[in-house]
Amino acid sequence: MGMVSEKKSTISYVKWDRGANREFSEEVTVLRMDNGKITYAMGITEEGYLLHCYYGRAIGEDDISYLMRLSDHPFTPNGNNRDRLIFMDSRLFEFPCPGTGDYREPCLMVLDEDGMSTCDLRFKEYRTMKGKPQLRQKGVSCIPATYANASEAETLVVTMEDTHCDILVELTYTMFKDMPVITRSARVINRGYNDIRIQQFMSGCVEWDYSNFEMITLNGNWARERAISRVPLHSGKQSVDSRRGISSHQHNPFIALVDPHATEETGEAYGFNLVYSGNFLAQAEVSTSGYTRVVMGINPYDFSWLLRPEEDLTAPELVMVYSDAGIGAMSRTFHDLYRGHLIRGQWKDKMRPVLINNWEGTYFNFDEEKIYAIAESASKLGIEMLVLDDGWFGKRNYDDCSLGDWYVNEEKLKGGLKPLVDRINALGMKFGLWFEPEMVSPDSDLFRAHPDWAIQIIGRDMTQAREQYVLDYSNPEVRENVYGQIRAILDNANVEYIKWDMNRALSEVGSTTLPRKRQRELWHRYVLGVYEVMDRLTTDYPYLLLEGCSSGGARFDPGMLYFAPQIWASDDTDAIERLKIQHGTSICYPVSTMGAHVSDCPNHAIGRTTPFATRGDVAMVGTFGYELDVTRIPEADREAIPGQIEKFKKFNPLVRTGDQYRLGNLFEDDSFDAWMFVAKDKSEAVFTFVQILNRPSMPSRRILLRGLDPERTYRNEDTGEVRLGATWMTGGVIVGAFGDFASRTMHFTAV
Ligand code: GLA
Repeated sequence: MGMVSEKKSTISYVKWDRGANREFSEEVTVLRMDNGKITYAMGITEEGYLLHCYYGRAIGEDDISYLMRLSDHPFTPNGNNRDRLIFMDSRLFEFPCPGTGDYREPCLMVLDEDGMSTCDLRFKEYRTMKGKPQLRQKGVSCIPATYANASEAETLVVTMEDTHCDILVELTYTMFKDMPVITRSARVINRGYNDIRIQQFMSGCVEWDYSNFEMITLNGNWARERAISRVPLHSGKQSVDSRRGISSHQHNPFIALVDPHATEETGEAYGFNLVYSGNFLAQAEVSTSGYTRVVMGINPYDFSWLLRPEEDLTAPELVMVYSDAGIGAMSRTFHDLYRGHLIRGQWKDKMRPVLINNWEGTYFNFDEEKIYAIAESASKLGIEMLVLDDGWFGKRNYDDCSLGDWYVNEEKLKGGLKPLVDRINALGMKFGLWFEPEMVSPDSDLFRAHPDWAIQIIGRDMTQAREQYVLDYSNPEVRENVYGQIRAILDNANVEYIKWDMNRALSEVGSTTLPRKRQRELWHRYVLGVYEVMDRLTTDYPYLLLEGCSSGGARFDPGMLYFAPQIWASDDTDAIERLKIQHGTSICYPVSTMGAHVSDCPNHAIGRTTPFATRGDVAMVGTFGYELDVTRIPEADREAIPGQIEKFKKFNPLVRTGDQYRLGNLFEDDSFDAWMFVAKDKSEAVFTFVQILNRPSMPSRRILLRGLDPERTYRNEDTGEVRLGATWMTGGVIVGAFGDFASRTMHFTAV
């Protein structure tokens, strides 16, 4: 395939030096990766600096070493004796380090045995390989990352070294064959005889010699996750991060830098997403030269990692997507990448069972008869799985106890779980169960037996949130215990789905088992511990459908998607609020991964009443299910469920595997939303329109369709109109919906 190539060139130039014009020349090597869609290139100077050369739309095969502008005044080499301070502070670097003149944000900050932080990484060697190696680190069983086989990607590993503190740094770049995607990671290895300390270790850096960008971030809070913000870059640093131990409601580990004129359809967009579920930093820095540096990785805040001789540390994977056809195309590339190269397991490409979850239907107030009654009624309507949410274990009747005691509350579920699951299975339904495996309630047998297993600082009060503490997942005993409990449940009853919840951020971050010198490693070790248990769970029970959750959507990130092919997007199930949440989430995550349910009205999060049909149409742009007590909803709604399920099944293959086009944007126009999904072979498309508040004396809307084949003819199956794809895309479809919050769906088929 040969996506990686090497080219040596000699850069010659004349410069005014010590009173005379003098000639200089210097040999540089350019390493570049090309797949016909994008080019990524870096240059190695004679002294071994690894400079960034180019990233973007595929560039010609010419020598592009001139893009490094090594001859720019006043940065000219004096032979090989550069005026380093200025040189270092103004070049574009692949993996910048501090102490030798680059005063911008570094990727690596290492304290050597003498406590010195200067680091001078120089090129040592590179190698290439077909495919994509797994990320590895000694003693760590699983680091989530995208995957590709030998025909799908090629990888370049550049090894850098600092001989003074005896470290090697491997920079890994994988280019995917048919996609404008590069993934990055880095691994630092202590090759010396002394302990060193890593204070900052970013996954990657990208630089541009301009700053005319706007930055898109996804921000929110409980019940309003991933709202889009878009602002121009300004001089200095601008960032989003998490210091909560989880990727968080507040900021997603995603940013995009886009052309200020970029729309859904046009303009350049550079997207960055970190495959990580803990503290992260995503930062853009505009220097006074007008250059832009993006760094992204584990948050250096409160991070410190002891690296003993021969130990290594691997940075989480950074996914980089380029688009020259707008934000929509960037999103579709992320979707294809995650659907094809991140999500794993038996459910990866399958339609998910239509489920009913009892949380909003009953909260804690249920027993086995009530759950069975819901299942029985649901099964008659075509619902395929009953998910029993919080409250089935320990003595939990409210959210103030029993987390950590993962055995059945037999006062509530008389006879235990198995008879109930068997009865539900006998209805032809699957059974799923809620866990919150990272937590412990102060009022629990687990905490009474092992108070030291909670994250804490001895001698300080422990802050409670939802009357619970976080378990110390850096401690193997804790992981073993919790996993053993989950296993006992799975081995006892036919549980085919798990909702893995996580309902609070970390505080008083200390471990009773980590040594003093390793306490600041807890943030990251916690995440690695969670990954280890999820890896065991999905390996030991490959048939399990795992749904991630964190107080709604506080941990919707690619790290989780590696284990869980779907994640509950938000506790806000209101159809109208969900439009924004699902739109924002779709900026980098495919809708096939978004947990979305039809719930009862007035909505429990917001008090709004919306049509049952609209709730269905919005939840269908997700995994689809119900979150209500089906025995207690209005008769008309119940009767609508079989039809809704039929519609979901008809369109789900298209929604799950097709290309998404966002046609409305409530962040900019709050009067309507619309979207469509087009089959990869462009043979059909489904279009959905949602009216927000209706207004009198308003004309119908004309919305331009997208993604069709302009030369093929499509029939609107709902109106019978037949037109060329080009006409549907330039003339549009005329649509209206009667009533507040009403929705319409149209199916287009090629004739
Ligand atoms: C979280 C989840 C909800 C539900 C509750 C149960 O808030 O997001 O869906 O499972 O916990 O306590």
